[in-house]
Amino acid sequence: MQIGIFSNDNEIARVGAQRIVDVYRNKENFVLGLATGSSPLPLYAELIRRHKAGDISFAHAQSFNLDEYVGLPRDHVEGYANFIHRNLIDHTDMPEGAAHGPDGWADDLNAGAAAYDQAIRDAGGIDIQVLGIGSDGHIGFNEPGGSLVSRTHVGVLTEQTRRDNARFFNGDIDAVPTHCVTQGLGTIMESRAHVFIATGQGKAEAVAQMIEGGVSGRWPASILQMHPDVMVLLDEAAASQLALGDFYREVWDKEHA
Ligand code: GLP
Repeated sequence: MQIGIFSNDNEIARVGAQRIVDVYRNKENFVLGLATGSSPLPLYAELIRRHKAGDISFAHAQSFNLDEYVGLPRDHVEGYANFIHRNLIDHTDMPEGAAHGPDGWADDLNAGAAAYDQAIRDAGGIDIQVLGIGSDGHIGFNEPGGSLVSRTHVGVLTEQTRRDNARFFNGDIDAVPTHCVTQGLGTIMESRAHVFIATGQGKAEAVAQMIEGGVSGRWPASILQMHPDVMVLLDEAAASQLALGDFYREVWDKEHA
């Protein structure tokens, strides 16, 4: 992992956006994986800014979201497809139909999940995936105790995740869906590269387990230790439980001098 620790969100957004612009410069028809949540919002704002500055075009790109709730009306403002459109896609030149997400409304959710995995394959795989992390260590919606090699599947959300996400539903945990469709950890691991973002004290334990704990289904994000190309971008609070934070800072400074 390349681990960068920064004092503010703008710096994280700048470095993360540059990583994605670099992928675009090598491959105009790049395939971008997208995460929801509040952590990537500054990154998306910076990507929109770089797009308007002429540094990146999405005209030949496709995108694939990590996950989607099951049980929300299709037009619900907190639905993840709507979230991604509102916060990124609608501000770019990505053509209609090029932005994909797991189908949380399919009559047969399992068949829809399998079709989503196939759609990613048909697009040639994801070139770079944006990731956040849940306070319980989930990536996408892969909650603790699941398979480390899972494909896109229907999942159940932990109470902790539903409590964390209640802030998007007027603080009402009962309004947060109990189920989701998510790219599996096996699907996520096939992405050629990742930009991972975590900010705030609430993520500190999960981040420490991800980077310094054993690879374990208890902390699903720890599977990223097995991936060759992960850029981890943290603020000081999210990095605060790392045992070797000073060492990671030294390595980052030497490699990005
Ligand atoms: C959500 C999403 C994840 C996201 C995480 C963190 O539930 N399913 O993809 O990374 O939780 O969200 P936030 O960045 O808002 O803390």
